[in-house]
Amino acid sequence: MSEQAKQRIVSGMRPSGKLHLGHLHGVLDNWKRLQDTYECFFLVADWHALTTSYETPQEIPANMDEMILDWLAVGIDPGRATLFVQSEVKEHTELHLMLSMITPVSWLERNPTYKEQQLYLKEKDLTTFGFLGYPVLQAADILLYKGQKVPVGVDQLPHIELTREITRRFNYLYRDVFPVPDALLAEVPKLPGLDGRKMSKSYGNSIFLSDPPKVVREKVSTMITDVKRPRMSDPGDPENRCIAFKLHQLYLPTEQLELIVSECRTAKRGCAACKKELAEAIILQLEPIQRRRKALAADSGKVRAILADGAARARKVARSTMAQVWSALWNQNAR
Ligand code: TRP
Repeated sequence: MSEQAKQRIVSGMRPSGKLHLGHLHGVLDNWKRLQDTYECFFLVADWHALTTSYETPQEIPANMDEMILDWLAVGIDPGRATLFVQSEVKEHTELHLMLSMITPVSWLERNPTYKEQQLYLKEKDLTTFGFLGYPVLQAADILLYKGQKVPVGVDQLPHIELTREITRRFNYLYRDVFPVPDALLAEVPKLPGLDGRKMSKSYGNSIFLSDPPKVVREKVSTMITDVKRPRMSDPGDPENRCIAFKLHQLYLPTEQLELIVSECRTAKRGCAACKKELAEAIILQLEPIQRRRKALAADSGKVRAILADGAARARKVARSTMAQVWSALWNQNAR
């Protein structure tokens, strides 16, 4: 397929710091695959982080650094995808403001994540104009690059729906400038954290991509297995009851899994040994990622250059889009 014929992908992540296995299997593996077939724009959504962390903005830069190292270390490839920091491309703020002119407040107030997040992040005052406009900013991220497909998790679907509504409204009011983007939902394995709940930094149940082997071993050894199997002599049911086994399934080859299942069912193996095997398999997979991460962390000039280049590439597209936006608004001939 020629470069022109490639569809555009836009996606982003808020800089929450070091990434964990949930991000790797839920998002980054998918992004890596998409790099092959689409023209990809991946952005670090620091403005979005500011909508909820405006009282502690000083934490954002370090969180961005950690996240970008993880992106690059797992194989998000600046040679194929455009990686950049949202706030370094000023057109995001410009289009955000423009789109806010045509977005009814009622659309934003009925956005389910708006209310959910306010309940969930009770300690923060999120009754701000900026937080209400979170999805408008996200729409701007997508439309600036005329994104056609937006890989996101189900939690983000309301935002993509809003983006679609805003896009249609723009095209209807002015001129057909933007393709209406589609969400791209990946089939992701459900990844439990150490305690069996979804792996999430805020639950403190995560294995981070940058955790050294010792930490991985410690963490995995605390994992919940099969609660109905308090003694080794009790037969287990790994496929239906064991939380750790969900990770075994991701990390171990089929033959090893089959052996585990039969030995567990017949009470021939204990959970401690089983988790040791799991820890070693995770460590083995993380090893090349951590090697690349270390090399990059030692070469901050290289990371800065990648982001500067990404921002320059993104800016070019963003400027051209904004020129079309203004000519549509003023009803001038485009381009
Ligand atoms: N809101 C998204 C999230 O929290 C992050 C994001 C920002 C994004 N801009 C985007 C996702 C544009 C897709 C497209 O996960």
